[in-house]
Amino acid sequence: MCDGVALDPIAAAEGTPLYVYSAATIAARYRAIDEAFAGYPHAIHYALKANSTLAITRLLRGLGSHADANSGGEIDVALRAGFIPAQIVFTGVGKTLADLGQAIDLGVRTINVESAGEIARVDALSRERQTRTKIAIRINPDVDAKTHPHISTGLKTNKFGIAIGDVPALCAHARALAGVEVVGLHAHIGSQITDLGPLTCAARALVALARELAAAGTRVEHLDLGGGLGVSYDGSPVPTAREYADAVLPIVRESGLAIVLEPGRQIVAPAGALLTRVVDVKNAGEARLFVVMDAGMTELIRPMLYNAFHRIEPVVQTGAVPTSCDVVGPLCESSDTLGKDRTLPRPEAGELYAVLDTGAYGSVMASNYNRRLLPAEVMVEDGVARIIRRRQTIDELLSLEI
Ligand SMILES: Cc1ncc(COP(=O)(O)O)c(C=O)c1O
Repeated sequence: MCDGVALDPIAAAEGTPLYVYSAATIAARYRAIDEAFAGYPHAIHYALKANSTLAITRLLRGLGSHADANSGGEIDVALRAGFIPAQIVFTGVGKTLADLGQAIDLGVRTINVESAGEIARVDALSRERQTRTKIAIRINPDVDAKTHPHISTGLKTNKFGIAIGDVPALCAHARALAGVEVVGLHAHIGSQITDLGPLTCAARALVALARELAAAGTRVEHLDLGGGLGVSYDGSPVPTAREYADAVLPIVRESGLAIVLEPGRQIVAPAGALLTRVVDVKNAGEARLFVVMDAGMTELIRPMLYNAFHRIEPVVQTGAVPTSCDVVGPLCESSDTLGKDRTLPRPEAGELYAVLDTGAYGSVMASNYNRRLLPAEVMVEDGVARIIRRRQTIDELLSLEI
């Protein structure tokens, strides 16, 4: 069930693979963050990269969220979802001149700049347009987020941000530029962070830097703490939004500066499940039982990309004997696996399974490899399941080709 609505008929009607989302869970998780930071000036800029399906983006706007966009495409989605430019922060390590021009013309809240070169480009493009663009400087605090190396972004060996030691001189230089105004400092040290230590470390670094800059004449208006707070994929305890707020607010309060938050996963990951049917059950001798699903790395790449764990559960209980197996996808890659060494009631072809906590970095990372079609998506809201993205067709896939 999803919020009292049975999943089996939804899968029968829409086919699989199919993403299903709970609007109520998204709302509850957004509000939990908002309430945890209530009483301190803050803005939640939902990180669209986690899941930017329009209906989800619109739902979050309706809840009062602002947006964090990571590409020109995500800015477009944010606008179509009804956000105004002043509600959008624009982050990203490789913004092109076209991306920057778009953001400057729109007048987004800030461009979160990633390098001295990018500051120069924003300055030049803004002066051409006779405007001044608000920027926040993304610092690289050299903090180990203690997460998977592929989603760690705050170490000096990572490509993100500007080395914290370089920022004071850069700000002094930026003050003299007519096309930019430094209004914020930004840090995002990684994703799926389950230890509050690194997050508080980054917050401390931002506060100390803001103080140093103010003494030297650059007064910023806000600190952008980024996203990154993790969720529990396996049921083990993780810090709540309130524990996160209780850890960082005492640090930030001292600065008196407003904060920007960019949560993605925290809001949407537990709100989504990927429904998939068993295509085949293969007994590879004594070595292994392979359960081949109709979803794989093209719908959910996280297990393959990050060795990520997702619980996999039968949608309809069968009472079959528990059996150990590898749950794999249908693609021509050995790494196309949804879950290794799982114990499931012995699966049968045709049965429906749910891969849980796949609301973030699931459908947004889907691909057409092996000419597979992007999956459909359904939102359950107020007891009703409605399609929010229909399944791609082969004609749509081929329509770009000449
Ligand atoms: C700059 C920035 N902000 C926010 C996020 C969202 O992170 P998360 O989904 O872990 O909250 C990301 C994702 O890595 C990011 O790169």
